[in-house]
Amino acid sequence: MDSKPIAVFDSGLGGLTVVRALRRHLPHESLIYFGDTARVPYGIKSSETVVAFAEQDCNFLLRFNPKLVIAACNTVSALALEELTPKVPVPLVGVVGPGASEAVRQAGGRSIAVLATEATVASQAYIRAIHHLAPRTPVTQQRCPSLVSLIEEGRTSSDKILLMILDEYLDGVRQLDPAVVLLGCTHYPLVAEAVGKLMPLARIVDSADATARVVRELLANRDALSASVEPGRLRCYVSDNPQRFREVGGSFLGEPIREVTWITPEQFFHEQSVFKPVRELEDAIARGSDRPEAVHISSGR
Ligand code: DGL
Repeated sequence: MDSKPIAVFDSGLGGLTVVRALRRHLPHESLIYFGDTARVPYGIKSSETVVAFAEQDCNFLLRFNPKLVIAACNTVSALALEELTPKVPVPLVGVVGPGASEAVRQAGGRSIAVLATEATVASQAYIRAIHHLAPRTPVTQQRCPSLVSLIEEGRTSSDKILLMILDEYLDGVRQLDPAVVLLGCTHYPLVAEAVGKLMPLARIVDSADATARVVRELLANRDALSASVEPGRLRCYVSDNPQRFREVGGSFLGEPIREVTWITPEQFFHEQSVFKPVRELEDAIARGSDRPEAVHISSGR
C-alpha cells in the first residue's frame, strides 16, 4: 500500500479527461494535476520544445513526491516519453501505449484510424505503437487542428459547426473503413458521440480510459494502491489563468474543480532541477499569495 499521490500533467486542461478516468477507476487515490496553461497548445510545437516543456512539467510535479507520473498529454507521450523515462525516478506512464493496445485489442486484426494533433500525427508514435503489437494492422492517421479550440469553446457533439469540421476531417480516414477510431488527443473524448454519429460502424477507443486501467493494474502489481477508503483528493496547479481552467475544465473533469492554484513562472522555474519537498513549495505559494501577480484559488473540500 502506498498513500503517496499520483501526479498527472498535460499541456493545459485536456488532461482532465485522464483524471476523470482515473477517478472512476481509482477513486481512493490522491491526485496532483499540473496543466501548463501558459504554454498550451503543445500539439503544434516542435519535438525539441515539447521535450523541454515536458521535462519542466515533470520536475515541477516531482516536488510532490508522487509514486507515479502520468503524461496525460498525447503530444508529450508521442514526442517526449522515451527521453523523459530515464530521467524520472518513479514510473512514468504515457497515453499512447495504453491507447494503442486497447485499439489493437478492439480491432481484432482489422484497420485502425487515429485522430490526433499535428505533432502527434507527425511523430507517427501511434503507428509505431500499433505496429509493435500488430505489425500487419492497417493504420491511418488524421490530424484535427481545429478540434482542440472548438471543444474548449464549449462546442459539443450536437454542435453544427463542430460536426461539419469533424466530418471533413473524417473524410480523410473513411477510405480505410476503419474498424476502430482511436481518439489520440486529450480533448476528443468530449466529442466521442459526434465521432460515433459520423462513423457509425466503427468502435471508438479512448486513450484516457485505457491509461487509467493500465495505471490501476501497474499499482496493484506493485502493491502500491492507496489503502484509503475516503474519496481521493484532487489538487490542480496551472501555469496561468486558474479562473478559465476552473470554468472550462469542469466539463472535461465531469465534476466541479475545487482546488486550483496558479503557479507563477518564478515558482515554476525556481530550482527546477533540484528536488523540492512539497512543504517548501506550499510555503512559497503561501508567501506568493501576498504579491499582486500571484493568485491562490482554493475552496478545499
Ligand atoms: N493535450 C494535447 C494532446 O493530447 C492537446 C492540446 C495541445 O495541443 O496542447 O495532444
